[in-house]
Amino acid sequence: MKTLAVLISGGGSNLQALIDNIEAGNINAQIGVVISSRKDAYGLVRAQKHGIPTYYISKKDYKDMDAFNRVLIKKLEEYNTDFIVLAGYLNILSSDIIKKYPNRIINVHPSLIPSFCGKGYYGMRVHQSVLDYGVKISGATVHFVDEGTDTGPIILQKPVEVYYDDDVESLSKRVLEVEHELLPKAVSLLVEGKLVVEGRKVKILE
Ligand code: GRF
Repeated sequence: MKTLAVLISGGGSNLQALIDNIEAGNINAQIGVVISSRKDAYGLVRAQKHGIPTYYISKKDYKDMDAFNRVLIKKLEEYNTDFIVLAGYLNILSSDIIKKYPNRIINVHPSLIPSFCGKGYYGMRVHQSVLDYGVKISGATVHFVDEGTDTGPIILQKPVEVYYDDDVESLSKRVLEVEHELLPKAVSLLVEGKLVVEGRKVKILE
């Protein structure tokens, strides 16, 4: 059975969706470890409630990024990580980690990439930008992580209609529901070996 490491920084509702889908038998994998960049991330509590080992690993506790990344890689290896899932993780992964796990790291983003993504577009800022621009359709994207920010090949996307009277709360709620559907589906395809990356495109094998 493949082993996942899930990296978080916040509430962990996407992590919860993975836990629920694994326990329901929809994903043929186990979560070996949950690592948070924030000590107070409620996602840590969610993992602990399901007996999943958790760690808080913060950049600020290390003299430099190299030291931080070495600790992170060591932890990933310690838990025999096959795939890494970024579920609201706010740090940018080092190229060492990305090179160590080629096409084995995926991320969920709360917009239809390539819109409203990249440096500085995370969490509620994404939805605020969507509302400010006045687009009629937003959505969620699950993609492979490469050395850019939100630039890796796209695995799954699903649209969410933007209503005139939406605010970031109402919009983010509907997008999050779609994230909770797409991320488990993408992880299931990933661990089953059904995702084939061909340049920028991802072929999904039936
Ligand atoms: C989600 O909106 C995700 O798209 C973004 O960060 C948020 C994480 O939410 N990357 P949660 O911690 O999974 O509830």
